[in-house]
Amino acid sequence: MFPYDAVLFDLDGTLTESAPGIMRSAGYAARKLGYEDFDPRVLRRFIGPPLFESFQKVFGMDEARALKAVELYREDFDAVGWSVNAVYEGIPMLLRALKRAGIKICLATAKPMVFAERILRHFGLWRFFDVAIGITLEDHHADKAKIVRAATPAGCERPVMIGDRFYDVEGGRANGMDTVGVLYGYGSREELVQAGATHIAANVAALWDILLPGAAREPGFFLTIEGLDGSGKSSQIERLCEHLRARGYEVARSREPGGCPIAEKIRDLLLDPANGEMCSLTEALLYAAGRAQHVRQVVRPALQAGRVLVCDRFVDSSAVYQGAARGLGLDEVMALNAPAIDGTMPDLTLYFAVDPATAMARRSGERTLDRIEREQQAFHARVYAAYEELARRNPQRIVRIDASQSIDEIARNAAAAVDAVLDGR
Ligand code: TYD
Repeated sequence: MFPYDAVLFDLDGTLTESAPGIMRSAGYAARKLGYEDFDPRVLRRFIGPPLFESFQKVFGMDEARALKAVELYREDFDAVGWSVNAVYEGIPMLLRALKRAGIKICLATAKPMVFAERILRHFGLWRFFDVAIGITLEDHHADKAKIVRAATPAGCERPVMIGDRFYDVEGGRANGMDTVGVLYGYGSREELVQAGATHIAANVAALWDILLPGAAREPGFFLTIEGLDGSGKSSQIERLCEHLRARGYEVARSREPGGCPIAEKIRDLLLDPANGEMCSLTEALLYAAGRAQHVRQVVRPALQAGRVLVCDRFVDSSAVYQGAARGLGLDEVMALNAPAIDGTMPDLTLYFAVDPATAMARRSGERTLDRIEREQQAFHARVYAAYEELARRNPQRIVRIDASQSIDEIARNAAAAVDAVLDGR
């Protein structure tokens, strides 16, 4: 059993790094009211405390002016400020793990609820919350203790309040609960200790150890995308990454050949139309060499950090292009790639299937063709046949997506295929 059965989170500085947006909108309000001559660093003081209070303290406004300032702040925050924001690394994974452990997840923020919900929805995190309490737009005296009380689900016996400022710690303590002060937000260790925080967490990993001691970290997910040149992979990858981010995953994107500086240089060698005399074995070894670097420098670190890594092409491309189409042999090419990948294989591969004629037609409409793309129609027919064969032989890893459909249909099918596997983990 884990130590807490309900976890209450503050938003700004705890789940999201919102300072840039807050400072921007506070500066906008001050300038609109004629406060031109200030050091932009004073805007940092707006992070955490209620705005109404900060406008009075920082700019010496009276109450009426501070009210007007809050109004102006909201005008800008509503339009732009809210989106100048990022989720702290590791938070989505933590929320997913808390959910899996059956722990209630609650939001206790002094931000207007409309903004809090919009931000959490924007980052795909809203669906994790069982309870969410913020303030109304009319409320100017946010009382954290009251907010925390309202955000505590009935029937939970061991709640904990997590935040980056003393307000959060005091709000939790006023309700008799344990508290965690996080140091990666906008408060200091001193203020959190002084406020009486039960635990201090320097980073999200430390927070994990407090909330889910001993629980294994969610592993990363390696998703590769394959298909003929001209199968429409690039625009689909874009959409898929967006879909995954909107579902709360930390997504990294890469490609082969390339993906890191050394492998990008190898890519230039491989695709340079001037290198027409390159023999097939050299080509296969260069792809494998780039892959060795890419796997170690990009793929593994991303997976170790729990990310979903979406990679445009991987070893399957070598199998079909060099193994089948160039005729080096599938097993031979896999053998020379074995030390390069050293066991790092995709968890899932989406193969975007279009016949060579369609792919060719799509391709010729584009930019100038690279060395591989200039190959004869027969070469691409062999690539196609090899992909089809590979997909048939690896039904557990490779999902074939009919890429002759409309862009929207392909995107829907791709997203559904990935969701099915990720949700089933
Ligand atoms: P790229 O411009 O990435 O093509 P696309 O946008 O169609 O993916 O160029 C990659 C080319 O390299 C592509 O024609 C396929 C080929 N290739 C191989 O032949 N073997 C490999 O192992 C990889 C990764 C790519």
